[in-house]
Amino acid sequence: MRRKLVVGNWKMHGDIQSNQTLLEGITNGVRELSNADYVVCVPNPYLFQARELLKNTNVAWGGQNVNQHEQGAFTGAVAPHMLTDLGCTYVLLGHSERRSLFYETNLTASARFEAAIKAGLTPILCVGETQAERDAGLTEVIVASQMDAVMATLDEHEFALAMRLNMVFAYEPVWAIGSGKTASPDHAQTVHHFIRNRIAKRNAEAATKVRIIYGGSLKAKNAEDMFAMTDIDGGLVGGASLLLDEFVSICKVAN
Ligand code: PGA
Repeated sequence: MRRKLVVGNWKMHGDIQSNQTLLEGITNGVRELSNADYVVCVPNPYLFQARELLKNTNVAWGGQNVNQHEQGAFTGAVAPHMLTDLGCTYVLLGHSERRSLFYETNLTASARFEAAIKAGLTPILCVGETQAERDAGLTEVIVASQMDAVMATLDEHEFALAMRLNMVFAYEPVWAIGSGKTASPDHAQTVHHFIRNRIAKRNAEAATKVRIIYGGSLKAKNAEDMFAMTDIDGGLVGGASLLLDEFVSICKVAN
């Protein structure tokens, strides 16, 4: 039985004051919920604040991206060890906004995935098709190419390490992100099942254990139907993760 996982992706939102209110509200709201895992991925400048407010709670924190290099002349970049230094246990990788707005590719996602696991971070690899790709019937082709690029870079040792770290996949259809157009539970289930089968080609046992979470306009009102699907192990929540009641309600559904 896979434990459900709810990850809040704050994107570029927040300030010290509002973060404090939200983080305290979340920890109060999920304190008694011991049957699922909860994570918030906050903007880098607030990781220190997240550490202060979340240590010794059942809410973990993580980065929204990481660079593949350990250090050096990479202005504006953040190294994996910097995230672990700040107590991060998770990191999002290959988010569609990174791909479409910041020119990141399957190649950079792969390099970052490798660097993240070597630093001991649990990677959450985001995959998903655009509306045009979906209309062209390319959903599985796109998702497979995004997954395979990363899987192909992992040797047996690294794959085992990623499994020990409980690597996560997030299916986020680009057309559903921030649009209010949530995928239907059936569509999401079909793609999640496809993702699990793809992992099974590499390692059948791993496929049964890997958590595959759904993201894209996930709200309290659609979380129940989503989380009831066989291969949907939780959610990656953008907009609704900034709304205390919404986020806590989604955590309760997962629990
Ligand atoms: P959304 O974003 O919930 O606002 O659609 C999800 C995401 O981009 O991770």
